[in-house]
Amino acid sequence: MNAQFDSKGGLRHLLTLEGISRDILLRLLDRAGQIRDAAVGRVGRRNALAGVAVCTLFFEPSTRTRSSFQLAAQRLGADVLNFDASTSSTRKGETARDTLKNLEAMGVRGFVVRHPDDGMVEMLAESAGEGTALVNAGDGRNAHPTQGLLDMMTLRQAKGADFSRLKVLIVGDVKHSRVARSDLHALRALGAGEIGICGPANLLPDDDTLKGCTVGSDFDAMLAGVDALMMLRLQRERMEEGMVRSLADYHRDYGLNAERLRRAATNAAVLHPGPINRGVEITDEVADGPQSWVLRQVANGVAVRMAVLESLLG
Ligand code: CP
Repeated sequence: MNAQFDSKGGLRHLLTLEGISRDILLRLLDRAGQIRDAAVGRVGRRNALAGVAVCTLFFEPSTRTRSSFQLAAQRLGADVLNFDASTSSTRKGETARDTLKNLEAMGVRGFVVRHPDDGMVEMLAESAGEGTALVNAGDGRNAHPTQGLLDMMTLRQAKGADFSRLKVLIVGDVKHSRVARSDLHALRALGAGEIGICGPANLLPDDDTLKGCTVGSDFDAMLAGVDALMMLRLQRERMEEGMVRSLADYHRDYGLNAERLRRAATNAAVLHPGPINRGVEITDEVADGPQSWVLRQVANGVAVRMAVLESLLG
């Protein structure tokens, strides 16, 4: 993905974690760690982006990503514009590209974009002017790079910075998951010891996404020694009819409950990007239990997004 790098190899946009060096990942993660207190509002506002306008341009729903980018930009002192596709001229047929170019003409320099189509954010980045930076906040099933970063930040807090002996299991609807793709790119770049992928055969990708991973469909058989479970949301909005026979069957085979969690390594960390389908991917007992890192993922999201916006626009 060349569009995201400038001529010196620095980040100009953040579109994907594919092809990003370990050094860039570590720099962003270290910076997010440094500014974590500012990120969760425990210290005063920072002014790194004073006078810079940032727009959250979302063509799909979001709670965590949009709100945390908004807070991140505000806590860096930016002017923040939240574009609402449902009340905008998108409804009259205006394209995403024209929308971006019009907002850019008003002086917006940072765009945080979510779109249902794979590759749309890269296409928009190619049409952006000099000095404008885009962050992919999730495009189709392609990439969700800041989710990948916040997941890595959370894994470092839970299990330490050395991933070389870490055994991670990603569970569920990998086929439709941009989160899984971004996590896989980051885990590989950071040298994760073993990456397992578990899900029903029809919800696993059949391209080279899973290259180098241990792949299977028997969740119970894959739990032994797992240090971190990354549970995925069932992406029903991206599925063809009938891909999941019933939610009860899915939960029986792939739902994480307390009994299954006991079969993983002691104190295994449980992550989920949200929104959780409670009682489907994960039980309440696990989601709200002592091994859940779900809300720490959310808190880390603000810090990671501050680090990314500061790096691109500061
Ligand atoms: N994890 C995530 O992308 O959540 P939202 O859809 O609420 O932003």
